Amino acid sequence: MRKKVTVVGAGNVGATAAQRLAEKGVADVVLVDIVEGMPQGKALDLMEAAPVEKHDFKILGSNSYDPSENSDVVIITAGIARKPGMSRDDLIKTNMNIVANVTREIASRSPQATLIIVSNPLDAMCHVAYKVSGFDRKKVVGMAGILDTARYRCFLAMELGVSVENIQALVLGGHGDTMVPLPRFTTVTGIPVTEFIAPARLEEIIDRTRNGGAEIVSLLKTGSAYYAPASSAVEMAESILYDRKKLLPCAAMLDGEYGIKGLFIGVPVKLGEGGIEQIVELKLLPEEDAALKNSAAAVQKLVDFLAQEGL
Ligand code: NAI
Ligand code: 2OP
Repeated sequence: MRKKVTVVGAGNVGATAAQRLAEKGVADVVLVDIVEGMPQGKALDLMEAAPVEKHDFKILGSNSYDPSENSDVVIITAGIARKPGMSRDDLIKTNMNIVANVTREIASRSPQATLIIVSNPLDAMCHVAYKVSGFDRKKVVGMAGILDTARYRCFLAMELGVSVENIQALVLGGHGDTMVPLPRFTTVTGIPVTEFIAPARLEEIIDRTRNGGAEIVSLLKTGSAYYAPASSAVEMAESILYDRKKLLPCAAMLDGEYGIKGLFIGVPVKLGEGGIEQIVELKLLPEEDAALKNSAAAVQKLVDFLAQEGL
């Protein structure tokens, strides 16, 4: 049977994700947005590309949530994106209400779906969707670690002049300045990256990774990254829909894993038809553990703010 994905927010990330889902043959797509006519227009444009792209997947645009009923996966990208000078955390007041409303509409129509959250600040918006939906923690997962890791892999491949496919890496933690790239788990076809790059240069690449989102914002000036974010969300959706059981860094609600409880934090998870089927607990070195706890403390501050607002 054909899979069904609803993408909420037909802006830059949402529309690009819809395009990739259909053109890669992953699923039929329902694209929902509050702006009248816009999701319908983008969906029709994508449908008109189908004969050229040679696929028969359906993309339906809507301002109503009714066509989203019984989706297998829902990707939530609704909200505002940051502009130059703004941090991801600056978006919390606006986006928490948007994500809460969207989640209510989605959860009542697709109670079996897995929710992939993209809206920022990511870890806090996962918290909102988890609380409002009442879904099991396995069914709410945040997209950030794949993007942060992809940026790190891309910069390393550029530095070494090798294929991006040769770089294996892992970025953990919250999706913010406190994210935790782990050089110990970074290899070039299995060879530790430290065999190729001096520590000081590696630190510069890690710093560029931490600021990867801001680098794109400062270039675009009117919004934030969307091609790599859309690719990352689609990789998650595909692993869930086709039970690929890929091990990917994603934001998951921790319940004691890594010594953290009650917070969404980026960790390695196995994604399959059950959503998050496993949280992989690595034995971290003391300095790695301290960096992860520092990142968790930053997420905790946002969650405390949500609690004050009744979320
Ligand atoms: P965008 O501004 O292009 O699109 C957002 C869309 O959400 C707009 O079309 C808007 O009309 C829609 N929207 C707003 N309120 C809505 C509501 N109540 N219901 C339905 N739709 C609504 O922004 P973009 O670039 O697509 O980014 C979307 C979000 O994703 C932002 O919060 C951004 O910060 C975040 N983001 C997160 C990333 C991550 O790694 N987790 C990466 C890239 C973006
Ligand atoms: C990024 O990292 C905006 O969170 C988004 O590009």
